[in-house]
Amino acid sequence: MTLQLRVYVPPHPLIKHWLGIARDQSTPSTLFRSAMVELGRWLTYEAVRDWLPTMDMDVQTPLSPCPATFVNPEVPIAVIPILRAGLGLLEGAQTLLPLASTYHVGVVRNEETLEPSVYLNKFPEQFHPETRVLITDPMLATGGTIVAVMEDITQRGIDPALVRIISVVAAPAALKKLGSAFPSAIVYSAGIDPELNEKGYIVPGLGDAGDRTFGT
Ligand code: URA
Repeated sequence: MTLQLRVYVPPHPLIKHWLGIARDQSTPSTLFRSAMVELGRWLTYEAVRDWLPTMDMDVQTPLSPCPATFVNPEVPIAVIPILRAGLGLLEGAQTLLPLASTYHVGVVRNEETLEPSVYLNKFPEQFHPETRVLITDPMLATGGTIVAVMEDITQRGIDPALVRIISVVAAPAALKKLGSAFPSAIVYSAGIDPELNEKGYIVPGLGDAGDRTFGT
């Protein structure tokens, strides 16, 4: 049986709302940044449901003993923002995952070949094999960048089945490439758009997510 990449577009009104704000070209950079924070928060909320490790313990309420469930602080959680644009989603993710470690990776696309090259890598030599990984990358366009990052982290001990990727807009080309290389990872995206233009931008998309986040 071949595994098929799972891609979820959560049908949540807040996710739709902030995606609409992000798509609108008249949205100023300050509001675009807010949209990224909110999308980071709500997509993380959706992505961690079956992924965040929990533990059961008894607590004492003011009235009686009671079973309770907590996030297990022993299991390492890593958030990986792919610079630059992935930083926009990071803040929202961190509000829900305060115990996570953040490992930055910077990837730039060659404008002509669209091939990714890594210019910053803060990964440890080796990750703990149980580490849960949340990657933030708002635009999954050709798939070159996300696959390069997945190749790197899996070589450092990450189980691809423990990886969740949050994105704002994904294109079929990226999902196909990711699905062929790492079908056990799971993607949560606010939207899926049909195509890329000749420069590798997602259409209709939202433009350059890094430029719009940082006002450049
Ligand atoms: N990166 C972006 O910022 N936008 C796209 O449409 C594709 C890649």
